[in-house]
Amino acid sequence: MRVLGINAVFHDPAAALVVDGRVVAAAEEERFSRRKHGKRPVPFSAWEQPVEAARWCLRQAGLTPGQVDLVGYSYDPSLVLPPEEMGIDDAWDHLRTTYAKEAPGFLADALPGLDRDKVRFVPHHVAHAASGGLAVSTAEPRSVLVCDGRGERASHLAGRYDGGRLDVLAGQRLPHSLGLMYEALTAHLGFLRSSDEYKVMALASYGKPRFLDQLRAAVRATDDGGFVTERIDWAELAPRRRSDEDWTGAHADLAASVQRRLEEVLLDLARWLHERTGDRILTMAGGTALNCVANTVLHREGPFEEVWVQPAAGDAGTALGAALHVAATEGEPLEPMPGADLGRGFTDQEIERALRTARLPYERPADLAEAVAEALADDGVVAWFQGRAEYGPRALGHRSLLAHPGRKANLERLNDVKGREQFRPVAPMVLLERAPEIFARGPIPSPYMLFVHDVAPQWQDRIPAVVHVDGTARVQTVDPAGEPLVASLLTAFERRTGLPVLVNTSLNTAGRPMVDDIKDVLECFGATPIDLLAIGPFVVRRP
Ligand SMILES: [Fe+2]
Repeated sequence: MRVLGINAVFHDPAAALVVDGRVVAAAEEERFSRRKHGKRPVPFSAWEQPVEAARWCLRQAGLTPGQVDLVGYSYDPSLVLPPEEMGIDDAWDHLRTTYAKEAPGFLADALPGLDRDKVRFVPHHVAHAASGGLAVSTAEPRSVLVCDGRGERASHLAGRYDGGRLDVLAGQRLPHSLGLMYEALTAHLGFLRSSDEYKVMALASYGKPRFLDQLRAAVRATDDGGFVTERIDWAELAPRRRSDEDWTGAHADLAASVQRRLEEVLLDLARWLHERTGDRILTMAGGTALNCVANTVLHREGPFEEVWVQPAAGDAGTALGAALHVAATEGEPLEPMPGADLGRGFTDQEIERALRTARLPYERPADLAEAVAEALADDGVVAWFQGRAEYGPRALGHRSLLAHPGRKANLERLNDVKGREQFRPVAPMVLLERAPEIFARGPIPSPYMLFVHDVAPQWQDRIPAVVHVDGTARVQTVDPAGEPLVASLLTAFERRTGLPVLVNTSLNTAGRPMVDDIKDVLECFGATPIDLLAIGPFVVRRP
């Protein structure tokens, strides 16, 4: 059975394709349209479908739209309540419902041959839940916790997957929303709402949670597995920051306070859930699960032995979740997703043709890993374009910008290359077998960069570029079994430097999506001071 999944309503429009229970392709529309997050999350944009991503998913599987058996659409307009009942103050909110109802027609228009009657509406949080609970082995029951800004009428789901079936145990109705609270803080601190939340998380490391009492009064878990988020007068705690103003200690303290309170409430929600299920494993999805600091607290202090987070935890992941949910409902046996590299890839011939067209001097080294490791050991910045693109916001060694972790100046240098704020950290990738001696107090393996680890004291001076101000790092562990090329690069780099670690950040410039196709990476290479481009088996050196 061929099931297409679509996310379109809020932001991060995406498509995914599940064929005979196997995840064949998944990609975000932003990687095609080159517009970050695909669109702004306003009601007027809810009609836009991830058409390019959907077309590519079908092409990847050699299918036409007419050969799709079912479509899962990650929003169910029949669940929406009137705005006054949801406490949502947006005169245009009804447009989302209207456009979602018409989505089957929009999709059939955009993908000629697709039968509009094959579209199934999947509740938004059920789609998030499925992206966690059905994307991994379903052999063992597992609890699932979803938190985000909002779905149709809720902002949270707590439940349990057993035998591939979801049992919903709790759901918090709007307007209470941990995600919307964090988004409101993001806007107050001068960053872009429902886009820059990770900057708030980074800023929190610079502050003290001195407003925690006020936050505890306003935001708290309730006995029914849900929570309350009262309206917070942010300006009473720290002044509103304009985007062009410098941040102050008060801004960092406010970020630290909200971050800490978010962690506390998530812990309460996890404990409530564990009391009911007693499961060993917790899976998480929803935008809040991209908060790797909170994920780590849940892993360290929470009641579950293991925490698994969907790498595309934001709304993009609901495309995959909706497809998996529909497939499971139809009785398809599902295979675990093979990894996050579910997007576009290119053949060596396609790459070579593009290099020739661009008249770039390139070489094909006998050993790519050795050639790139040498450039990195010489302190070069490397654009690393290999295999299929990542699904989700993290670069995991397929569309990555790499550098030497031993030079502290490389943090500033990379933030300059990418046009990022200097308070933001860059992350390390590390050989899996070496990870435990360098990184502590976080889950290992950690293949998707969704947790932070403490950097061991004796390593902090050796890899200063990847150590955040609080002594932590957001680690990607690299298993040679799954990522042989990246692993051999790390090994070759270690042979030269003694460090089995590289700086790894996403391959893009400020405000742009990660590069996805060959043209994107050539444009990025042409416009930024990157020393070497490793694209497929070829390298291009900056003269
Ligand atoms: Fe969501």
